[in-house]
Amino acid sequence: MIYSKITGTGSYLPEQVLTNTELEKIVDTTDEWIRSRTGIEKRHVARDDETTCDLAEKASRAAIEMSGKKENDIDLIIIATTTPDVIFPSTACLLQQRLNIHGCPAFDIQAVCTGFVYALHVANLFIKNGTTKCALIVGSETMTRIVDWEDRNTCVLFGDGAGAIILEESKTPGILSTHIHADGAYQKLLSVPGGISSNYNLVKSNKAFIKMQGNEVFKVAVNTLGGIVDETLQANSMSNTDIDWLVPHQANTRIISAMAKKLDMPISRVVVTVDQHGNTSAASIPLALDVAVKDGRIKENDTLLLPAFGGGFTWGSALLKY
Ligand code: ACO
Repeated sequence: MIYSKITGTGSYLPEQVLTNTELEKIVDTTDEWIRSRTGIEKRHVARDDETTCDLAEKASRAAIEMSGKKENDIDLIIIATTTPDVIFPSTACLLQQRLNIHGCPAFDIQAVCTGFVYALHVANLFIKNGTTKCALIVGSETMTRIVDWEDRNTCVLFGDGAGAIILEESKTPGILSTHIHADGAYQKLLSVPGGISSNYNLVKSNKAFIKMQGNEVFKVAVNTLGGIVDETLQANSMSNTDIDWLVPHQANTRIISAMAKKLDMPISRVVVTVDQHGNTSAASIPLALDVAVKDGRIKENDTLLLPAFGGGFTWGSALLKY
C-alpha cells in the first residue's frame, strides 16, 4: 500500500504589517469591532512589487529545506491561489522556473479558501496511484490586491502570505482521508464579480474586488464545517478524542470556536493564527500548520484535522498523521 506523508513545511509572511489601529485611519472601523467580531489583530500586506509567486517561493524553499529533499526530487507542483501573478502561465509554472525544476507537472488550483485542501486531495491521489513520489504543495495569496480599501465589511478581514508542504510517498500513513465538495448555488454570497470574460469593465476601472454578504456566509460556514468534520471522523471510524490538533481555515475566531465546541475540543488543541495573519485564503491552513510545527506543538505521529470553507462555496477537509 502506498501512502503519502508530509516531510517538510514552510511559510512566509510579507514584512509589512497593518494593524487594526492603522485601519481605523483608512475606513470607519475600530480595533474593538474587528477584534470582537473576527479575532483579528493585524495582517501582513505584500509590497506593491511583491507577488504571490514571490511569497510562494520563500515558503517553498523553507519546506524543501526541512524535508531534506533537493529541488530536482520534486515531481509535482501544485499552487492553490485565488490571486495568481498573471492570467497565464500558472503561478505553479512561474514557481517551477524560480526553483529551476524542469519537466514535472505544475498547475494551479482555484478553490478560494479551500484551495489547499483541494490541492492536498489531488496530490495525495497522484502519490497513491504511483504517478508522483515527491510533491510540492503551496497555498499562496496576495488577497489585499482584491480587497476594496473603502469597504469596511471586507477590507479588515484579509491578509497576504504563503504556506508550503512537501508530500512524499511513504510506507506508513500519512494522509488518512481527504474530502472535497462544492456548491455553486451560493456564488453570489461571496465573489469577485468581475473578471476577464465577464464584467471586464470592473477590471478596467480597477473595481474587481471581493463582495461578501458576511452574515450569510458566516451561517453557512459554521454549519458546513460542522458537517465536514462529522463526515471525516465517520469515514475513519474515529471520534473527536482521536484528534490531537485541529488546524482549520483561518477566517474568523468565532467560526473556529464554533467548530472546536462542536468537536468538544479545548481551544488549546486548536491552531489559531487568524489573530496575527487575518484571512489569507488558500494560504491559511499551510501557514497555521507551519507555525505549529515550528513552535513544537505539532509532533510526529500527531493526528491532525484540517477543515476549510471558502468562496464557491467550496469546502473540504483532510485527516492525517503528521
Ligand atoms: N467596522 C465597524 N462596523 C462594521 C464593520 C467594520 N469593519 N464591518 C461591518 N460593520 C457593521 C455593519 O455595517 C453592520 O452595521 P449595521 O448593523 O448598522 O448594518 C454591523 O457591523 C454588523 O454587520 P454584520 O455583517 O452583521 O456583522 P457580523 O457579526 O456578521 O460580522 C463578519 C461580520 C466578520 C464579516 C462575519 O460575518 C464573518 O466572519 N463572516 C464569514 C467570513 C468567512 O468565513 N468567509 C469565508 C471565507 S473567505 C473566502 O473564501 C475568500
